Amino acid sequence: MPYRSDLEPSRRDLLIIGAVVLATPRASYAFSEATNGIGLEGAQVMTKVSFDVNGESHQLELDTRTTLLDALREHLHLTGTKKGCDHGQCGACTVIVDGRRINSCLTLAVMHEGDQITTIEGLGTPDALHPLQAAFVEHDGYQCGYCTPGQICSAVAVLAEVKAGIPSHVTADLNAPMRLTNAELRERMSGNICRCGAYSNIAEAISEVAGRSA
Ligand code: FES
Ligand code: FES
Repeated sequence: MPYRSDLEPSRRDLLIIGAVVLATPRASYAFSEATNGIGLEGAQVMTKVSFDVNGESHQLELDTRTTLLDALREHLHLTGTKKGCDHGQCGACTVIVDGRRINSCLTLAVMHEGDQITTIEGLGTPDALHPLQAAFVEHDGYQCGYCTPGQICSAVAVLAEVKAGIPSHVTADLNAPMRLTNAELRERMSGNICRCGAYSNIAEAISEVAGRSA
């Protein structure tokens, strides 16, 4: 056991002293002033970024910490893309970037210079729905609808992945023609959570557009 003199404070003593100091109003004010200076004002960096969203080009000047999700919702006012968890766990924020689906809450806007981004607003219009939008309506593929934009963007990309022969975690035979089996559909849509539990109707809608019954 290492030697410790009785005059030396223990780790427990130091923690107690720290807690008392921070609990003192003057000390906690000074601490918050100090961290504000270092953590916020000192760190803010603005930069320009350009990308296409739903076929329209946009130039934005953003704090480099802005996520793509916040750039779409707060700066371009495209609020169809939803913020659920903001941590990459629910899929509500799914958009399609250069043909691949991503969670827009997990990527910084400034990383998308020159990219082509498609959100739910770019897939169809109320008068001319995308086939998947129409199928979700027909099969009641939603209840509250909060997850639906992410589900539909994901499903659009899933159909493209299957068509391109891109395997998933459950693809058994990499040499066989790719088919959207129930297992494939469940696996590929597993990143999109629906708290209302409309999964069977969502599967019916996607399956109809894929050309098979669920
Ligand atoms: Fe992005 Fe939940 S909001 S995954
Ligand atoms: Fe409500 Fe999916 S329809 S969360």
